[in-house]
Amino acid sequence: MAQVVLENVYKSFSHHQKGRIARLAPTDALAAPINDTLVIDEPEPSSGAVSVLRRINLTVQDGEFMVLVGPSGCGKSTLLRLIAGLETLTAGNVWVGDRLVNLLPPKQRDIAMVFQNYALYPHMTVYDNLAFGLRRNAIGTGDVGIDHETSLALKPQQSPFSLEEVLTTLTRPLPPMLRYWSERERAIDQRVRTVAQMLQIEPFLDRLPKQLSGGQKQRVALGRAMARNPQVFLMDEPLSNLDAKLRTETRAQIVNLQRKLGITTIYVTHDQTEAMTMGDRIAVMNAGQIQQLAPPLELYNHPANRFVAEFIGSPPMNFLQVEVKAPLLITHPRFRLTLPPHWEPALQPYDGKMIVLGIRPEHLSLGVAAPKNLPVRVERVEALGSETYLSVCFAESIAVNPAASCLQARVEPDRSIGVGEMLWLSIVPDKIHLFDADTGMAIEQSSR
Ligand SMILES: Nc1ncnc2c1ncn2[C@@H]1O[C@H](COP(=O)(O)OP(=O)(O)O)[C@@H](O)[C@H]1O
Ligand SMILES: [Mg+2]
Repeated sequence: MAQVVLENVYKSFSHHQKGRIARLAPTDALAAPINDTLVIDEPEPSSGAVSVLRRINLTVQDGEFMVLVGPSGCGKSTLLRLIAGLETLTAGNVWVGDRLVNLLPPKQRDIAMVFQNYALYPHMTVYDNLAFGLRRNAIGTGDVGIDHETSLALKPQQSPFSLEEVLTTLTRPLPPMLRYWSERERAIDQRVRTVAQMLQIEPFLDRLPKQLSGGQKQRVALGRAMARNPQVFLMDEPLSNLDAKLRTETRAQIVNLQRKLGITTIYVTHDQTEAMTMGDRIAVMNAGQIQQLAPPLELYNHPANRFVAEFIGSPPMNFLQVEVKAPLLITHPRFRLTLPPHWEPALQPYDGKMIVLGIRPEHLSLGVAAPKNLPVRVERVEALGSETYLSVCFAESIAVNPAASCLQARVEPDRSIGVGEMLWLSIVPDKIHLFDADTGMAIEQSSR
């Protein structure tokens, strides 16, 4: 196990590079003196190059479950591929444990990666898919959750031409009783069975991938990564191909397994629910940069900027332009609100200025006619039974600016509400968020 540290990582692609996978010389990065690493000054992408990742600094603790979340195209996969060694860095450093791996080829990084399109070998059984990587490669020597003796026996293969290995390979198609088992093959067998048991795929060991459901195939792909007993797991949207129910189940299984094995894991997803439910910490990415790094509830309660505020939470946060009128008074053409006193210091510089008020759908509730409440017309109702989602608009202002004057609200399901109905919504004052209108950065209340 190991921590993973990214220092000032930059990546740009030049156009002619598109689709190419970088091949690295097997240089021994350990031998390279520290000052021999790649530049850390902010590099200008050369002409024609597209900057995909900028100034990524991230420390993933030993044993941590880190989620990278962000919209499609923000650079998540590129970042994972840089860590795995499938892409070359434009600048910066990648450390795995105490090893600088910038120039190490993927095989020497002791990292296992699970992709969205789990490519299993179609002509091999589940067993052979799990054993394949172990038979070919030197593998991790840690004994994470897996029998210690097994790991010790799994030394790198000395020579594939030793009598033992030749006999093992030749007799592999025979029934187990008739086969020759080298010590190494026995250790591989034990490892495969341990992993299969953990992932509950033991009953399928003799099947071919085409005889498995999507969820079972996904678990085999996970198993193949686990069997290698790596220092670090990288997972790139591994659940995207599963249906909703299976995704929820497999999500829980991955989290449990990761807890059990304690292997440092970096998990990529574009799905904020997946991020919120799985991560010890979450790095929210947008346009090649980390917007905020925090535990799930910290992101929800204290988003650092409008992007995070909108991305985390479903349905997303509502935003309204308001004016700061007096130290604690904010006004909107349709309502005025007095804020709790702890906002005062933070709002002082904004006196007389426009700012952005953010309020989540779950922090709006049905209220009475009052200047502090929002008079709205119901445009759409989604009654789910347990809760009701409303799309509402400020009635008179729709013509002026349709987008800015509509909101989503999540209200108690008890009262039936019809489309076209006029309502007053009240804002829970402790739950508001305020943002600088120009920079989009959160205005921090002082009591934090
Ligand atoms: N090999 C490549 N050559 C050029 N551009 C690339 C290459 N790989 C990815 N990109 C670009 O980098 C950006 C980030 O891609 P990616 O890391 O796959 O995003 P994500 O995984 O967050 O959806 C995209 O705009 C994509 O087009
Ligand atoms: Mg991707």
